[in-house]
Amino acid sequence: MKSEMEQDILKVLVTEEELKARVTEMGAELFEKFKGRNPLFLSVLKGSFVFMADLVRACQVQSEVEFIAVSSYQNSTQSSGTVQITRDLQQDITGRELIIVEDILDSGNTLAFLKDYFMSKGAKSITIVTLLDKPSRRTKAITADYSGFTVPDEFVVGYGLDFAQKYRNVPYIGVLKPEVYSNN
Ligand code: PRP
Repeated sequence: MKSEMEQDILKVLVTEEELKARVTEMGAELFEKFKGRNPLFLSVLKGSFVFMADLVRACQVQSEVEFIAVSSYQNSTQSSGTVQITRDLQQDITGRELIIVEDILDSGNTLAFLKDYFMSKGAKSITIVTLLDKPSRRTKAITADYSGFTVPDEFVVGYGLDFAQKYRNVPYIGVLKPEVYSNN
């Protein structure tokens, strides 16, 4: 018996096991780069909350965590191009080495905006970590320093990623059935 959410999933793109293995690898790579440097893991909410939780535990480096919430999609499937901060940083990031944690790099609008924003706030360095990269949709010159998986231009949900705020708790990355989002 499929769950009510699973009925809306066309196919599984990245399984739970694949996610775990890749996040473990990424954590180890970040450990090698950042040991002794007290980086600040900065999660871009909401989408990255699941990845963030797994990544910081996969990277046993002395570090701190911070959160910022932005929105550019406003329940649409197309980026509006305008990035709004809906919850700002709660600490001074002057001189900090930032590890930006994103669930997906799509058009690049969000990260282009955030890179400028964090530099203007005095960050010492910025390292971009994204779980998923969808390079076919890029309109801004942004690349990730660490990327978990390259995905095709399909509507992906799960492991933090939503459609209209739902499906974030699906434990794998799945492709949504087109009839689900075309009905909205
Ligand atoms: C998603 C995702 C990234 C952004 C990537 O956020 O979490 O932040 O879009 O897309 P881009 O490269 O085209 O800017 P969204 O605005 O959907 O908010 P959410 O994280 O709350 O789901």
